Amino acid sequence: MALRHCAGNFLSPRRSAYMTPHSSMSIFARQMNMEAQSVAAHLNSSGFIRSQGLIGGKWTDAYDGKTIKVCNPATGEVITNVPCMGGKETNDAIASAYDAFVSWSKLTAADRSKCLRKWYDLIMAHKEELGQLMTLEQGKPLKEAIGEVSYGASFIEYYAEEAKRVYGDIIPATLPDRRLFVLKQPVGVVGAITPWNFPLAMITRKVAPALACGCTVVIKPSELTPLTALAAADLSIQAGIPPGVVNVVMGNAVDIGDALLASQQVRKITFTGSTAVGKKLMAGAAATVKKVSLELGGNAPCIIFDDADLEVALKGTLATKFRNSGQTCVCANRVLVQEGIYEKFANALSSAVQSMKVGDGFGEGVVQGPLINDAAVQKVESLVQDAISKGAKVLVGGKRHGLGRTFYEPTVMADVKGEMLISREEVFGPVAPLLKFKTEEEAIRLANDTNAGLAAYIFTTNVQRSWRVTEALEYGIVGVNEGLVSTEVAPFGGMKQSGLGREGSKYGLDEFLEIKYVCLGNMN
Ligand code: SIN
Repeated sequence: MALRHCAGNFLSPRRSAYMTPHSSMSIFARQMNMEAQSVAAHLNSSGFIRSQGLIGGKWTDAYDGKTIKVCNPATGEVITNVPCMGGKETNDAIASAYDAFVSWSKLTAADRSKCLRKWYDLIMAHKEELGQLMTLEQGKPLKEAIGEVSYGASFIEYYAEEAKRVYGDIIPATLPDRRLFVLKQPVGVVGAITPWNFPLAMITRKVAPALACGCTVVIKPSELTPLTALAAADLSIQAGIPPGVVNVVMGNAVDIGDALLASQQVRKITFTGSTAVGKKLMAGAAATVKKVSLELGGNAPCIIFDDADLEVALKGTLATKFRNSGQTCVCANRVLVQEGIYEKFANALSSAVQSMKVGDGFGEGVVQGPLINDAAVQKVESLVQDAISKGAKVLVGGKRHGLGRTFYEPTVMADVKGEMLISREEVFGPVAPLLKFKTEEEAIRLANDTNAGLAAYIFTTNVQRSWRVTEALEYGIVGVNEGLVSTEVAPFGGMKQSGLGREGSKYGLDEFLEIKYVCLGNMN
């Protein structure tokens, strides 16, 4: 398939991202390009690259024929074009989901469970291809992408099982001739708006519980990474999930969002993304009083106490900070280190970060891919510059990578202070800012000094302290001596302005259910 540059012609030397004075770099860049191109060609010929939206089981173009480019962030090349849809297509997708709800919600839980199980099996059978597609459009290293496919699929497997356990209640009646029951029923059509950082898992974490409960969905994946979503939706159809149960529209985010919000038929909005957009969706949902669940931004503290096991703390910090090149909502945003271990930890972290291999996600041994786009790099640059101008020191990295484009050097910064922008905003990049603290009380105060409250991490060998600090942290998720905490069986979600509701686990089902109280009278 033809690959063209998103920013200009791929063949034009003036516009090439790989024009560098070092000829060895150009050769390396060409090799990376060839790998990505042959993967794209293979995925295309095996039907894995879908370039249309899905409405009522039909692959559909935008009604006005407009398209948007989907680009590989590692190379800038266009992978394909997808429809630039808007309100009209979204309204049709909602209508299809509304029609499909009638029969899907009436299936037995066991039948819905079988469809979900089949979907899970198909995703796992194609995890290599889905992983490649994800690396192509999102940039994360292939191993990490394949890991996300398994992680994403785990939500489908889990909710295939939970579908059969949506229990109601019988309540002891207050009068002898009464019988009181609680029924749990699906909310109806769900609008699922998902981000680019986890092109599969953020979809399955929403769609699998929705489908398990009997809801139908209109998915709006990020315009930056719609291809994994479309491939997964294709597999849902192959799994026997009926047309209209899963719909995918993409394009004009504002128009699509407005159509989802305005519709009386959409009864629930579930969103992962920025706090700013989450607030707008919450306000917009008020007009039709929809249920809303929001997984928004974080500002995770990662607290290393003097009594931490250095190796455990190092492994955990690297895992939480540099996963997906720092582009997750649960990435450590501030690394708070107690003064007694500060020097040792800073040195150990710096040498580990120094040796991280950066490159195209298809490259051998690469652990850090590109950032998603130039705006993301500019944000990281401005936060690092602000910190430097206020007295922070760069221990490792601190600038764009020599590979060019959106590659940024994995970075460690010392002498960071709580009032610097880098401590107050979500970095969403591979930068570990180290803040020194003296006491446990100070660490808790610094950790909680933010409007965000998604994930926090603590490293200590003192059991009493681990419990005390966990209870004091205003966060929805706490990792103790562990940096990778996400799993389908545990509730994921935040406190304060990090969001509403929980995804994953048995609690994730509640977000897609209405509770109906039934009172039977005259029962004597
Ligand atoms: C996110 O960054 O929004 C999700 C991260 C995860 O599921 O671990």
